Amino acid sequence: MQEYIHKYNATFKSLNPEEILRFVLEQHPGKVVFSSSMGAEDQVITAMLLQADKNAQIFTLDTGRMFAETYELIEKTEARYGFRIKVYFPNQQEVEEMVSNHGINLFYYSVENRKKCCNVRKIEPLKRALSGNEIWITGLRRQQSPTRQDMQVAEYDAANQIIKINPLLEWSEKQVWDYIHANNVPYHALHARNFPSIGCQPCTRAILEGEGVRAGRWWWENPDTKECGLHK
Ligand code: ADX
Ligand code: SF4
Repeated sequence: MQEYIHKYNATFKSLNPEEILRFVLEQHPGKVVFSSSMGAEDQVITAMLLQADKNAQIFTLDTGRMFAETYELIEKTEARYGFRIKVYFPNQQEVEEMVSNHGINLFYYSVENRKKCCNVRKIEPLKRALSGNEIWITGLRRQQSPTRQDMQVAEYDAANQIIKINPLLEWSEKQVWDYIHANNVPYHALHARNFPSIGCQPCTRAILEGEGVRAGRWWWENPDTKECGLHK
């Protein structure tokens, strides 16, 4: 597998994000899925992907704790491009058990609790969404976080046994927004209110002037441990 990853990364060095997407669609027909959090980067990929393949498989994980604006954007995006985003929900029994044992807002009380919630509400549904596929596309960018410095465009995700492709890895925030404006791509209403990175409502706040783009995610935790476990 490592050999494949090597080869893909060498090929991708001379391709732009659209070409990377077309390449994986061609090499892995019917086995490519894209996970969208409905953030700016994801909206760019949705636009590119649907242009390359109008039947592209795009899904989002609804944790049950999303912002109202996220649901509005799901509808708006579906209407704009004439497709349906597949929505995955957490396992009902696991959510009920977790909340009854640890409380509805457990995540504020320890990193362990926070990881448990992310596991139940995101990681387990993600596993189901990825299962049976060969390529997992994400909207990760290197500049987003100290935890994303060593990433590559193609990586092997051992936990989900899938090749992960990050086509916008080297893009800047400006490139993302230039694409959105040039192509009239619908975007999340909270981006205009100082939320550059948007996850669940109780775990996301607006950033202050001078803060990093992910400072508003799990803001009470140490920046070096702030990943929900979707991206190891
Ligand atoms: S997170 O790990 O902190 O939540 P972030 O919000 O930066 O991640 O998003 C990075 C990428 O993870 C997105 O581009 C998307 O591919 C995936 N992702 C994050 N949250 C979701 C979600 N709720 N549903 C689907 N994909 C998601
Ligand atoms: Fe739970 Fe917060 Fe993780 Fe969402 S981001 S799954 S609410 S801990």
